[in-house]
Amino acid sequence: MKVQNRVALVTGSGGGIGEVVAKTLAQNGAKVVVNDINFENAIRVADEIKAAGGEVICIIADITNRDQVKDMINRTVDEFGSIDILVNNAGIAKDKGFLKMSEEDWDTVLNVNLKGMFNICQAAVTKMRENKYGRIINISSRAWLGWPGQANYAASKGGVVSLSRTLALELAKFKITVNCIAPGIIRTPLFDTLPEETQKNLLALQPVGRIGVPEEIAYGVMFFASDDSNYVTGQTIFICGGKSIFSSLSV
Ligand SMILES: NC(=O)c1ccc[n+]([C@@H]2O[C@H](COP(=O)([O-])OP(=O)(O)OC[C@H]3O[C@@H](n4cnc5c(N)ncnc54)[C@H](O)[C@@H]3O)[C@@H](O)[C@H]2O)c1
Repeated sequence: MKVQNRVALVTGSGGGIGEVVAKTLAQNGAKVVVNDINFENAIRVADEIKAAGGEVICIIADITNRDQVKDMINRTVDEFGSIDILVNNAGIAKDKGFLKMSEEDWDTVLNVNLKGMFNICQAAVTKMRENKYGRIINISSRAWLGWPGQANYAASKGGVVSLSRTLALELAKFKITVNCIAPGIIRTPLFDTLPEETQKNLLALQPVGRIGVPEEIAYGVMFFASDDSNYVTGQTIFICGGKSIFSSLSV
């Protein structure tokens, strides 16, 4: 098993992509920290991992709160002995046309998607550096290339790529790799709530003719989390059914 006995923390793993990533890491032998702001969801995921024979703790913490983040990293190290793999998955969207976008829409999305990542990377790297080992996997989005109605989201996810490339350079000497995954549309409960017309339009833009499933993001995480990727850092892989190849909406 490729991540046997590694300690992995997955932010926002109370549902959606993060839940499947946390379960996949646990199935592959990692000790997993399930983190979310949603108590019920996080507990459910942690219970399911435990029931399947995994080693898990559940920590409710808001990644925008630096004190809560610090406590979470300290508790991870106290209970599991280290933090080896960090999957920065928690993220939100507040889509709107640019001129309708409020300052609050901008600040909230940037605060969770980008500053939250800064907070947790800083706390985790302090510990990883002591161990001279770390795998950081940051979930960006295909939207970082640009998409109408997503100025705040796209900017935050572009920031995630820039942050990751810079951290990769600064941390390579400590044997810490930092890579990104940029998913395209993935079937999470959110997609199912979109109007049928919107779903149809989105599907029409998918070169492979379908949308992805969270397991396909988890496979990418497993590559970056394992020693198979020892020589890979600062990279962004698109898992998006080919949509990133297009530069224009009219294609
Ligand atoms: N689903 C997609 O199509 C898609 C596409 C591209 C990128 N992504 C990215 O993948 C990641 C996961 O997306 P998802 O679709 O599974 O979303 P989701 O909404 O299903 O899950 C996100 C989780 O993060 C948690 N969360 C939100 N704010 C938090 C905070 N401040 N602290 C801790 N936890 C917090 C939520 O409670 C939720 O459980 C996000 O970063 C998203 O931007 C998703």
